[in-house]
Parts: sequence; C-alpha cells; structure tokens
Amino acid sequence: MDKGPLRVLTVPTTPYSDQRPGSNGLRRKVHVFQSRRNYLHNFIQCIFSSIDLRDRQGSALVVGGDGRFFSQMAIEVIVQMAAANGVSDSTTASLLTLHPGASRSTRTGRHSPVTSPQVGRLIVGHRGFMSTPACSCVIRKFKAIGGIILSAGHSPAGPDGDFGIKFNTANGGPANEAVADKIYQISRSIEEFAICPGLRLDLTTLGKQTFDLENKFKPFTVEIVDAVESYANLMRNIFDFAALKELLSGENRITVKLDAMHGVVGPYVKRILCEELGCPANSAVNCVPSDDFGGQRPDPNLMDAADLLDNMRDGEHDFGAAFDGDGDRNMILGKHGLFVTPSDSVAVIADNIFCIPYFQHSGVRGFARSMPTSAALDRVAKATQIELYETPTGWKFFGNLMDAGRLSLCGEESFGTSGDHIREKDGLWAALAWLSILATRRQSVEDILKYHWLKYGRNYFTRYDYENIDIDAACEMMEDLEIMIADKSFVKRRFAVEDKIYRVEKADNFEYTDPVDSSITRNQGLRIVFSDGSRIIYRLSGSESSGGATVRIYLESYEKEYVFQETQVVLAPLATIALKISQLHHRTGRTGPSVIT
Ligand code: G1P
Repeated sequence: MDKGPLRVLTVPTTPYSDQRPGSNGLRRKVHVFQSRRNYLHNFIQCIFSSIDLRDRQGSALVVGGDGRFFSQMAIEVIVQMAAANGVSDSTTASLLTLHPGASRSTRTGRHSPVTSPQVGRLIVGHRGFMSTPACSCVIRKFKAIGGIILSAGHSPAGPDGDFGIKFNTANGGPANEAVADKIYQISRSIEEFAICPGLRLDLTTLGKQTFDLENKFKPFTVEIVDAVESYANLMRNIFDFAALKELLSGENRITVKLDAMHGVVGPYVKRILCEELGCPANSAVNCVPSDDFGGQRPDPNLMDAADLLDNMRDGEHDFGAAFDGDGDRNMILGKHGLFVTPSDSVAVIADNIFCIPYFQHSGVRGFARSMPTSAALDRVAKATQIELYETPTGWKFFGNLMDAGRLSLCGEESFGTSGDHIREKDGLWAALAWLSILATRRQSVEDILKYHWLKYGRNYFTRYDYENIDIDAACEMMEDLEIMIADKSFVKRRFAVEDKIYRVEKADNFEYTDPVDSSITRNQGLRIVFSDGSRIIYRLSGSESSGGATVRIYLESYEKEYVFQETQVVLAPLATIALKISQLHHRTGRTGPSVIT
C-alpha cells in the first residue's frame, strides 16, 4: 500500500527524571502515559537514540505486545516515530543521530526532515499482538536489531491498570544493564523527538506496506507478520509433535486444561494445542485476548488463576497450565490441582531434559536460576555434573550465558521457565516441556514430582509479597537489615523458634559477576543463609508501577527425607524469624503479606 509523501516533524520536548527501565522495561500506570505530555514519545525516542547508527542501518526492528489498554495508541506512535527516525537509503543518510542533548553540527527546525537513525524495516505483529516469547523468536528469525514489546507482563490492564515498554536487543532478550542505563541517561537530557504524525498503518492485513516520506528517502516499510505461525514453527522444531499428539488426542490420551487468562497467548494455545495437537476446544479457556484481561490480574499463580485451580480440583483433568498476559510466565498443575512450584518445575525439566528432542540434538550446556529461586535445580546440576549459574533476578542475565553457549535451561521462582531456543521466558514452551515428560514417562504429574523429591530431597519454598509499601519505610528496612547482617557477629548467630534452631552461616547483599563479560551487578537482595541450607532473602521489587514499593521475602528450607509436608508449616519458623529481624509489620503497619506464593 502506498501512502505519502508524509511530513516528518521534530518536536521539542522536556525530559522526565523517572524513565529508568526496571526489572523488565518501563512500567507505569496507564494514566502516567496518558497525562504526562510526551511521556511515551520521550521514552521511544530514547530507545531509538540508544541504538548505534551503524547497527540501525538496513536492519529490522520488531514491534508487538500483549494487546493491553493503550497498546494501539502506543503502536501508532512507535510506527510514526520509527518512520521519522528512519532513513532507509544509506547513501543519503546523514551520520547524525537524533540524540538530543548530544552536540550536533546542524539543528533541525520544528518542521525539518530528520536525517537521523535508520530503521530499515519494521516488523509488527498482526493487529499489534505478539507474545513476549514470540517477539524474541521473531527478532531472532528476522535477525532484527531488537524489538519493542508493549506489555506490563502479569500486571492488571485497563484505564486504571499498568502499561509497559520493554526493549529487547538483537539476541531476542531484554536489554542488558548497560543498554538500559544508556536509555536512561538519554532520557535525562532529551530535547526533541522525531515523528511522522500522518502515517496510518493497517494492522489487520498481513504483508508489507510502504510509505513515502517528504524527506525523499527510500520508502519506509512495515511488514505485518503472523507471529503465531513463526512461534508454532519454532515449537515444531523443538518438541516431538507426533508424540504430543498421541498423548493429547490418541487412544490413551490425557485431558488438559489450559488457561490463557485473556492474554495474548490465547491464539498460540488454540493454534498449537487445539488445532495441531488435537486437544478438544474446551480444554483451552480465556483464549480471546482482551485489553483489560477480563478485569483480572493475568498472573498465573494460585490466587489469580484460582478458576483453573478450582477446575482442576475435581480430578477430571490430568494436567493444567496457566499463562500470563504476555505469555512468558506459566503455572503447572497436576490432577486435583497439585501445584508444581516454578523452582521445582525447572528442576524436574532439568532432570528429564532428554524427553525434549531439541536437547537430544543440542546437548545440555548449563543450568541457571535467579538467586531467590530455590536450589532444587542445583541438586540436579550436581548429580548430572552440569554447570549451575546463580544470577540476579530478571531474564536479561540468562541471555549473556546463552549467547556464550554456556546455558541451556533456566528458571525463576516467579513462574518463568525457558530454554535457549529464545532469550525470554516462555510459558507455552514450559507447558510443552512438561507434556513431553508426561508423554515419555507415561506417569502423572504427581508421580513425577514425588519421584523427584524422593530422589533429590525437597526444597520447600515460598514468597511473601508486601505490595504498595511506603518507599521510605521499605528502603529504611533494607538499609537497617544490611547494617545488621554486615556486622561480623551476625554470622554464627542463632535463632530459635519453638524446637527449631537456625544458625547463620553466611549473610550478604548478593552481587553477581557475569562470567562472560565480567560486569558486576550489585545490590541484588539481602541473603541470610543458615547452616542447614535454609535461606531468608529480602528484595525490593524492580517492576513496581504504583509509586510505592513491593518488599519480597523469599523463604526456603531443604529436607532430605521429610518430603511430603505442608510447605507453609515447614517454613513457618523461618517466616517468624524473617519478620522479627526486619520488623516489617511494625515498620509498615501491615499484618500480613498481600500475596503468598
Ligand atoms: C519480577 C519477578 C522477576 C521477573 C520480573 C519480570 O521482578 O520477581 O523474577 O524477572 O518480575 O517478569 P521484581 O518485581 O521482583 O523485580
């Protein structure tokens, strides 16, 4: 479709001081994007300006998201800004970058053409939709320089909900700290942005659309792609679809219930599980994406995915899985709603990794987990003599290891699991991984989990979240705790709760030295490790959008023999200690966590 020539404008703007990307991009309340002048435009310009000009020339950039409220408006702006920032003929491209604040030899006037960053081609998901794992897959497939993902993951959506912008780089994974910092530094001094306001894209038609711009550069091209098909194709190359089809629709089939929680992954579940692998249509629920996720928080945990849990309780279904808004998180359930903790899930997949053909071919290079994730995976790594990496929270830290060929499978306690087929966590992949184990072992989820605990012992794990806490109170608590645990006398200190006695063996503020590039990431959570391997960890969330703070307390205890106890009972003494030494309730007036997982 030919449009144009379209005007390209340079618009003056003023910086915001709060555009530092968090654990996973920039996440804010929708009204922040709506009410603060150019808040969206500024951040998008900073992303474009952060990319080296040479890397931009002739490259593709991917755009898509989970379809949440405000996405359509944001996609329109991103496309208009990509066009205005794009010079697709490198012979006419000036080497100026539009990096406001940097010195420039010429200044473009308000209506002047912008001779600046080149985005050769935009690749946009059909109707603007693309799950986060599919985005990673598409970036890699098209060898793009990166992608802009419009999502706030598992956070609620709608006019009162959250909106988010994530920037992924050429490996398909979240931008690393250095890139995030570059974006932030630019955001502090931005003076103008470039935009092509008349550009209108048809998001509903697959294929290429070109637009002529008034600056006479080569036409700007956008390609609308079927990300579901690209992702499905990747899955076909990883898993044994014939075996999965037999499991799900053969003579001795199992029954499953999959809950897409009104998120973007619904069409992927339908296409792969129902149309291709033969699950009956009613085994997949909430598969039509909605811009407010049906008014629910699209977070696959026992509280927010309670409908699935209820559904599973009657014992009709053998396997259940739920996914979050952008499709990167997963929760796995067995018959009668048996909950597999994400920490156990990645350990079980590791122990059964060769049930997945991809790993039979690629081999297994290493395992990794984020620091607060339980050490269940470490036990499998030790037994199989495979390297284990402990990284800070956030998926970006896994990407470096994968790119260096050192990591094959990883997970986070926050319902993230994935392999090195992409550089994001991948909810549907995790469900297919579990189904591959069931297809190979022909055992129930419960039998597989119990076998695992009997073989390795059990790492009991829980997380308490205190949401929307006063920031000053939260920071003060962390500071006081850090001072307390830094005192030499803290190590060897004993804590007694009823008949349990815990002796501190190690306490620190976790810091990580990346084994690939030696970069150091500090301040990643306060750890108290006891002599029996039990741990208490305190962290402040990096993905909070409310303006308050979220304090996370992670509790873990290892039992070699008593593996069939109630998690909260086993961890109750540790919880008592964690609350006592932090004085969290006293400091905040809270009487309990907002969420326990
Ligand atoms: C949370 C999770 C973390 C995950 C991130 C992005 O971050 O705890 O594991 O990588 O969301 O999905 P947090 O809010 O704890 O910083």
